[in-house]
Amino acid sequence: MRTAEGARQLFLSRFGAAPSGVWLAPGRANLMGEHTDYNGGFVLPFALGQVTAVAAAPRTDRRLVLCSGQQPGSDVDVLLDDLAPGAVSGWGAYPCGVAWALRAAGRDVPGANIAIDSDVPAGAGLSSSAALECATALALTEVAPAGSAVPRRKLAAIARRAENEFVGVPSGIMDQSASLLCESGHALLLDCQSLESSQVPFDPAAAGARLLLIDTRATHRLAGGEYARRRAECEEAARLLGVPSLRDVPGPAAVERLADPVLRRRARHVVTDDARVLQVVALLRGPACGSGDAYREIGRLLTQAHESLRDDFEVSWPEADATVAAALAGGAFGGRMIGGGFGGSVLALAPESAVDSVRGAIAGAFARRDWTAPEFLDAVPSASARRLT
Ligand code: GLA
Repeated sequence: MRTAEGARQLFLSRFGAAPSGVWLAPGRANLMGEHTDYNGGFVLPFALGQVTAVAAAPRTDRRLVLCSGQQPGSDVDVLLDDLAPGAVSGWGAYPCGVAWALRAAGRDVPGANIAIDSDVPAGAGLSSSAALECATALALTEVAPAGSAVPRRKLAAIARRAENEFVGVPSGIMDQSASLLCESGHALLLDCQSLESSQVPFDPAAAGARLLLIDTRATHRLAGGEYARRRAECEEAARLLGVPSLRDVPGPAAVERLADPVLRRRARHVVTDDARVLQVVALLRGPACGSGDAYREIGRLLTQAHESLRDDFEVSWPEADATVAAALAGGAFGGRMIGGGFGGSVLALAPESAVDSVRGAIAGAFARRDWTAPEFLDAVPSASARRLT
């Protein structure tokens, strides 16, 4: 694997010896359920084949020394005992935050040399940060001779804590769970309230369909502040509806009681997207799944979700709207923006026979507007984080 070899080579040249091991963690795409995780709802992500690789070896002086192929010239060197929120900024905050969160959870983290390489594009809404956190978390728990694995669900919570409290991004639990719990050929149905999860077989190719992942190359302009604002709006809507979280709203009709039109739209998105997750799961587990019909219906739900994210939750961006419109014009079953919004990627589902015309329509739509050309990425439901043997 290219990134694993990249991390190993970088380790050799930076530290002058071979690493004790290499750990990989994937980025993710989300089939359905956006902005539902922090509302206690359902999500349905799958792990990508694109991964972050961490080559590591323990040190005896309680230092963490980090370098990254994606961040040349900005190595990080810190004492474990100096780690505290705010102590490290930039890319190093993610791996250092994981060391801090592991220690806060009572794990004895060793000092370590770490070299990182990744082919998860940053800023594409594919959870490159969760991939980095999860690969580091596995490495730091398993690299020392006395190390032992932490149960995956617990490790996801620790990696999320690193992002929330050390990096300062108020994200939900979806991305870290996807990176640590997904299985190849499956999507992960995760109940973000109970944290129960199950594997849902997901093999579009067997039904003559294809997943297309399109990086719109627009970056998360407003992402940080707007994400936090959406969270606060959802909490306020739940409070006004008298429920602990929007997951507990009995159905879409109940949100119409909200007098504030903005809060009503936000809540409507969350409640309807939760329902769409369960509809997609029923289709994937249903008898028609081997036929194109189930995927045609899933495509319709994807487009519905996009409209909800665009009009009710208001987190879409022009390149995503144009991508979805062009995909549909090119013959796709449907498509939607994925991730937090305001930049990043679109996931589309198309019959195999329409893949070329969908790609052509999207590329044409971007060229007509003089936008940077979009990137077509592979989206293959892949395995979760692991140590390379
Ligand atoms: C980001 C966050 C996730 C989730 C999505 C939106 O990716 O990290 O926790 O909230 O946005 O679904």
